[in-house]
Amino acid sequence: MEKSQSHVVIFPFPLQGHIKPLLCLAELLCHAGLHVTFVNTRHNHNRLANLRALSAHFPTLHFESILDGLPDDHPRTLGSELLIALKTSIKPHFKELLQSSLKANGVALPPPTCIITDGLVTFAFDVAEELGLPILSFDVGCAPYMWTCLCLPNLIEQGQLPFPDDDMNAEITGVPGMEGLLRRVDLPGFCRVKQSSHPALQFAIHETQTQKRASALILDTIYELDAQCLSHMATMFPKIYTLGPLHSLLHSQIGDISRLLASHGGLGKGDPNCMTWLDSQPTKSVLYVSFGTLVTLTRTQIIEFWYGLVNSGHPFLWVVQSDITSGLGENPIPIELEIGTKERGCIVNWVSQEEVLVHKSLGGFLTHNGWNSTVESIVAGVPMICWPYLGDQHITSRSVCEKWKIGLRLKENCDRKDIETMIRMLMEFKRGEIQSSMDTISKVACDSVAKGGSSNHNLEMLIQDIRNMPT
Ligand code: UDX
Repeated sequence: MEKSQSHVVIFPFPLQGHIKPLLCLAELLCHAGLHVTFVNTRHNHNRLANLRALSAHFPTLHFESILDGLPDDHPRTLGSELLIALKTSIKPHFKELLQSSLKANGVALPPPTCIITDGLVTFAFDVAEELGLPILSFDVGCAPYMWTCLCLPNLIEQGQLPFPDDDMNAEITGVPGMEGLLRRVDLPGFCRVKQSSHPALQFAIHETQTQKRASALILDTIYELDAQCLSHMATMFPKIYTLGPLHSLLHSQIGDISRLLASHGGLGKGDPNCMTWLDSQPTKSVLYVSFGTLVTLTRTQIIEFWYGLVNSGHPFLWVVQSDITSGLGENPIPIELEIGTKERGCIVNWVSQEEVLVHKSLGGFLTHNGWNSTVESIVAGVPMICWPYLGDQHITSRSVCEKWKIGLRLKENCDRKDIETMIRMLMEFKRGEIQSSMDTISKVACDSVAKGGSSNHNLEMLIQDIRNMPT
């Protein structure tokens, strides 16, 4: 490994789904000999799993943390308070950190060569420009979502936004490369406004357009799977590096050790009992259920999903981050759910998801289509039931169900019968057909990280380009 004076400062948006892929990237850069300072908010830094193992394995990976200014007991979910904290509290701390002489174990590090920031951390673009540092933008979602957001001004100009009538299934035609895929209902919540001047829509447009100030865009995307959108996006950025699936690229580069670090980047602690439970289940029999880290279910939704799972007759592993009974209020858990869960269910707060998805007993994944979960499912070759909830998830579910045909879409307002039917469809009637498409897509993803594959090649280019930046 060639020693380098290049020093990359990475700052993820302070949420789980953003920290994990950027930490994968940090490890890959360190594996190539670059110095990386990975900056988290103090709150997230203290929850990050396997820090010691990571530091021991990657001697050029350094961690820094900054205060977000929010009270200790703040939930820190995606919302206006977190966004305000970014600009008012985190921004000045981040700038100060970059201006200080960064050290590791008391030894001064080379001055920062460039910043890689999450595309949602738009203040970092101002900081980079003020300090004269190159900045590369990392977008955690699927490429078609970012491309759609970049096209929002065109949609407004064409009169497609705000929606001219109430037909939510009408096709959106002004996003080149997305023909036949995009409907009004797939656009994120901030598009459902009456006026184009609405602050939420204007904020989203501003934040996406800001990313065009980056000297390059990095995506956790597989080029071959989204080539059409990417060719259009290439006209807006000096360079695009598609490196997806990043977790798989990391595994391919660092080999066996990645198993040791399997829960790296996680802000929770995997429940070991669920792995023992999975070991006891027949091959490809289990439906894994997780809606990521931002979705909150209502009491009705919990009950409907629970009945759907139990009534399907298939074993299930369900990750519910909050105490599942808290959504139930005063009401006791219906006895048939208790019995059904005891017989063939396992409910936990957190799992090491990458490990779960590659377990031989896994047969399907009921997911919200967060981009990390989606690519992890693709790499593991596990077909999906899609129940998208917010942001990029609806557009991702369109690619999964309509373009790649590796999943089935569950309707938004589903009840226990819909859920049961969908599980049976995935695990029984449509199994062969969907698994066969999944095997094809999964191979494309795995080939892209292998030697000579597009993501592998793009990583080499990125490392070379960083090394060539003035230090
Ligand atoms: C958020 C957004 O919701 C999503 O739409 C966007 O694409 C990324 O950021 P999140 O909701 O957390 O992400 O979902 P997801 O993208 O799937 O990321 C969750 C990550 O946490 C995954 O890498 C998953 O492996 C990990 N995880 C989650 C665990 O390891 N264990 C768990 O129990 C739950």
